[in-house]
Amino acid sequence: MMFHSQFLAAKILEQVLLGKNLDKSFQLVLNNKKVENLSEIKDMAYGAIRELGESNFYINKLVKNKIHNLCLESLLHIVLFQINNTRSNNFTLVNQAVDAAKKIDLKKSSFINAVLRNFLRNKDNLQKQLNENESAKYSYPKWWIEKVKNQYPKNWQDILNIGNQRPPLTLRINSKKLIIGEYSEKLNKQGAEHTLLNDECLILKKPLDVKKIPGFDVGEVSVQDLGAQLAAHIIDLKNNQKVLDACSAPGGKACHMLELNKIQLTAIDSDKQRTIKINDNINRQGFTAKVMNEELNIRNKWWDKEYFDRILLDVPCSASGIVRRHVDIKWLRRVNDFKKFSDNQLLLLRAAWPMLKEGGKLLYITCSIFEEENREVIEDFKKSLSNISEIDIKFPSNIFHIKNQVLPSDNHDGLFYALLQKN
Ligand SMILES: C[S@@+](CC[C@H](N)C(=O)[O-])C[C@H]1O[C@@H](n2cnc3c(N)ncnc32)[C@H](O)[C@@H]1O
Repeated sequence: MMFHSQFLAAKILEQVLLGKNLDKSFQLVLNNKKVENLSEIKDMAYGAIRELGESNFYINKLVKNKIHNLCLESLLHIVLFQINNTRSNNFTLVNQAVDAAKKIDLKKSSFINAVLRNFLRNKDNLQKQLNENESAKYSYPKWWIEKVKNQYPKNWQDILNIGNQRPPLTLRINSKKLIIGEYSEKLNKQGAEHTLLNDECLILKKPLDVKKIPGFDVGEVSVQDLGAQLAAHIIDLKNNQKVLDACSAPGGKACHMLELNKIQLTAIDSDKQRTIKINDNINRQGFTAKVMNEELNIRNKWWDKEYFDRILLDVPCSASGIVRRHVDIKWLRRVNDFKKFSDNQLLLLRAAWPMLKEGGKLLYITCSIFEEENREVIEDFKKSLSNISEIDIKFPSNIFHIKNQVLPSDNHDGLFYALLQKN
């Protein structure tokens, strides 16, 4: 039933407003229960979070006093998103919201009714006023908008807008198993429209559950963004090299490296549950690697003291380059998070570097667009060493980038790459 969906989506959004991430919020509210209307609930929760800046603006205009019940406020965000983005009849949506409100607070259903009807009466006028407030217009916190503006004075609007799009479903073909033309034929037979981006990458026009993606189970394809697919090429592998993937889970880039070259791969991750996923992915594709649930740190007790030819260091970061996939990030991050991220990123670089062979290469990666986690970390790191040089990276022409910063575009996420060599 529809009102049930609005109610559950509001409960999920309430958790996000309390500071939990979206995945955790789904788990908390749905508690692993099988919910028939899951995709509808997802659409509502993701959509409302994506456009929270806009609905916040409307709520502030329509409601004079603070709403003390966060779940009730969340319900307003959900329904305002639906009114502005779905083809459902507005009055039906309001009636359903009134029923959902009764489940939250019986006495407040008339308040919800009044606010939403007031919105419908003044919708055109209110929408015109959106331009007066950038946080409402672009749906990001004000500090985030200022940060993007400062760092990308020419591209800031595009970057913000791309972050509000629905992300594409991008596949990587395992070129060890088949060529892209053959796979494209398979998709055509299934009527799955797609666009080829290069000879191992394509975008599906309509998202599909992984279980329905042809050849996924047998490792013919993996889900991976075009920007992330650059890593295994940039790191410049040769057969038989000893390679460390030091922050590996869920193993997307590890599998891609194994597809391209016969390497001896060690993949570690400090998160136990996520390490299981590295194994799942490597097994699905029929590869072998040494996978360990270990932490990269200054001691590296797990290391057998054999130097690595290549190290891939895909560090934890703000994920500001992938907000269209993780819509909650822009609301959960705080300005002072960046110092914590960059301190840790520098620490991980310092922990990985001693394991690199002389002449070896380390590829540093983030999925952030902010220089505090990218260029600034690399410059800090380089300053402290004498035996280091940075190698220029040549990006393919279909990658939108400024120097080493890949910027989010229709076809790929935002990532930063720096290739360092030990002299
Ligand atoms: C950006 S993700 C890696 C994505 C992965 N490279 C891929 O392409 O699928 C970062 C990973 O680093 C792991 N991590 C964080 N701190 C770590 C540490 N000190 N040592 C090892 N792994 C760590 C996290 O658990 C997370 O899985």
